[in-house]
Amino acid sequence: MGPEDLAHVLRLLPPAAPEPNLLVGTESFDDAGVYRISDDLALVQTVDFFTPVVDDPYAFGQIAAANALSDVYAMGARPLTALNLVAFPVDTLEKEVLAQILKGGLSKVQEANAVLVGGHTVDDPEPKYGLAVTGVVHPDRVITNAGARPGDRLVLTKPLGIGVITTAMKRTEVPREVARSAVEAMTALNAAAAEAMQEVGVHACTDVTGFGLLGHLHEMALASRVAARIDASAVPLLPGARELAEAGYVCGGSRANRRYLAPFVRFAHGVDEPLRVLLCDAITSGGLLISVSPEKAPALLGELQARGTLAAREIGVVVEGVAGEIEVA
Ligand code: CO
Ligand code: CO
Ligand code: CO
Repeated sequence: MGPEDLAHVLRLLPPAAPEPNLLVGTESFDDAGVYRISDDLALVQTVDFFTPVVDDPYAFGQIAAANALSDVYAMGARPLTALNLVAFPVDTLEKEVLAQILKGGLSKVQEANAVLVGGHTVDDPEPKYGLAVTGVVHPDRVITNAGARPGDRLVLTKPLGIGVITTAMKRTEVPREVARSAVEAMTALNAAAAEAMQEVGVHACTDVTGFGLLGHLHEMALASRVAARIDASAVPLLPGARELAEAGYVCGGSRANRRYLAPFVRFAHGVDEPLRVLLCDAITSGGLLISVSPEKAPALLGELQARGTLAAREIGVVVEGVAGEIEVA
């Protein structure tokens, strides 16, 4: 669901009763819920599932699992167990297709050193797949989206462009190399980035998914009561993304993000239309967006590089200002 619709529905719910062990709940639109079960252990719980983003069922399974695991990594936690969530048209699609989706998902759960413990399936005309994931973290080491401070540097660990490329792949032929690099980005776990964050110590983190880079940055800035400045030319892009954005391969979710963000985001004249599109692009299984002190930013980038997160870039700064406002130059 888009940010506007979701905010509307949540406003209709009664306020939650205070619960001292609930360290992260629904108020701050964070990536996962965090519940303390002892002085040195907290559970991190999240769930995510969606319709296929690519034709290859094994790759779809990998992408959906990497995307679900990412919300645990974004909290600085380690995934422990996962449950499959499956909707599948039992009478019209080959069972082998579902087997491939599940194999792809399992491969990522195993790569994350987590354990698949079960799942649930429903018969549905439209296939959907994802995971409910439980992770663990020390209660003092939870990284929320609410800790960004003025002066912090903003670091993004995967290139943008996944949304426009997958949208184009559904409507036309895209160059093999372009499709391959998008799938590679989506199937990559954010595990190394989470480790690097815990190694260095950072102020805030969220992962970039359906609300786009600026949508998730807006939420982080709101929760942290700060504003942000993005240097558009520093944002890493997948090969071919700019051209496909220019050609108009923009999904409805991205358009909704752009509309929702209009009151909070100011683009400088020099930021051209394709770049504006990519900054609001609704994506699947994007990178981590990390807010880190200026002193520790070089160390974080070094740790990310050392762990093979080669696309990680510093893309902006946190500033004082109206909470949630973003300037893009
Ligand atoms: Co998330
Ligand atoms: Co999520
Ligand atoms: Co069941």
